[in-house]
Amino acid sequence: MRNNIIHPGADELVYEIREIVNVANKIEKTGVPIIWENIGDPVAKGEKVPDWIRDIVADTVKNDNLSFAYSPTKGLLATREYIAYERNLEGGAQITAEDILFFNGLGDAIATVYNYLNKNARVMGPNPAYSTHSSAEAAHAGSAHITYRLDPKNSWYPDLKDMREKIISHPEISAILIVNPDNPTGMVYSKEMIKQVVDLAREFDLFLISDEIYSNLFYGGVEHKKLASVIGDVPGIAMRGISKEFPWPGSRCGWVEFYNTSKDPKFARYAKTIIDAKMLEVCATTLPQKVLPKVMGDPRYYPYLAQRNAKYQEKSQIAYDIFSKIPGITVNKAYGAFYMTVLFNEGVLKQGQSLKPMNKQAGDIIAPLLDTDMQDKKFVYHMLASRGICVVPLSTGFNSDLNGFRMTLLEPDMKKFKVIMNDIAAAVKEYIKS
Ligand SMILES: Cc1ncc(COP(=O)(O)O)c(C=O)c1O
Repeated sequence: MRNNIIHPGADELVYEIREIVNVANKIEKTGVPIIWENIGDPVAKGEKVPDWIRDIVADTVKNDNLSFAYSPTKGLLATREYIAYERNLEGGAQITAEDILFFNGLGDAIATVYNYLNKNARVMGPNPAYSTHSSAEAAHAGSAHITYRLDPKNSWYPDLKDMREKIISHPEISAILIVNPDNPTGMVYSKEMIKQVVDLAREFDLFLISDEIYSNLFYGGVEHKKLASVIGDVPGIAMRGISKEFPWPGSRCGWVEFYNTSKDPKFARYAKTIIDAKMLEVCATTLPQKVLPKVMGDPRYYPYLAQRNAKYQEKSQIAYDIFSKIPGITVNKAYGAFYMTVLFNEGVLKQGQSLKPMNKQAGDIIAPLLDTDMQDKKFVYHMLASRGICVVPLSTGFNSDLNGFRMTLLEPDMKKFKVIMNDIAAAVKEYIKS
């Protein structure tokens, strides 16, 4: 090429959650059946979308010709009005339909929000991090994502001291990202904790981003509080969607809510840039927006979510009971979303540890991949070849300096779920001892 056509952030675009699938697919071809514990798609994992939700979608397609049309750039007005009304009912930051912008899934929202931020303005995010955020943020700036620590010894809560120190030592930090409930840890932050993050943002004149895609998926005696409930007058963005809740990840439907744009002209201009960027793309998918108020406003919706949450709670407890007995690792129960993170304590992973592959070809496939400094990644490959279980390493999958892996609580068959958890636990024990 005559000129350098490579984006300065090109190397930051890593999505291990899906990349590991390529390896798993090759191993599957050798006759090893794969248990997919890597992707947070409840439907792919076998959860059944209720018939009444399907009926609403089918009726809409059949009877509403405009469900095939473009929608306005910000999204269908009736849907945005419904969301704003529901938001305002809960108290806290009050919004109108004009403060809402629809995207083709939160993946699209995340890419846009970072892409249109000034290159020199950084958003600090959690470590471990959901990699769509960390990669997109790093790519926008062309350098590594700046993170604050989530503390595994303190229920994976944000380390506020670390957060403060990073804000001080990195004056380019302009916003703080929280993911609540969190992916990959399954933690739900208390109102008090979110308030302290908001206070930090207020003190240093930053804005906030809160990814709340799992906001209706919480259990185990906690109550999820949205950013809006404590944000006060600080500018912020909440991100929500239907991928995990309905669940309908294939709908590619998510939205952002802007809070307090009137409080800061720079934040207002930034929000307008994001809206203008969406205008260039015309609009987000119409059909899921059409059905959203009908599904969320249906009296069966919250009882249905309660039922799902009860199952996740049961699975979180089962997994916790199994993994908390293993020496050398740290686990916390999940209280939200549908993931759990298993952490290898420092010094537990060493050179030379291995698991016997299920067959020689599977061993040959992972052999070249084991030449990595990422100890948890080695474990993940070994478990893939030896047991066919596909999880995601914390290091490369979640932009972390910690060694561990994320698994899901999605397997709907409880018996099968227990078998999978016991199988992973056995692999962990065997690997540590090897
Ligand atoms: C925390 C978080 N945010 C955003 C997304 C992306 O969601 P969407 O399907 O709306 O793109 C995910 C998907 O796993 C997620 O875990």
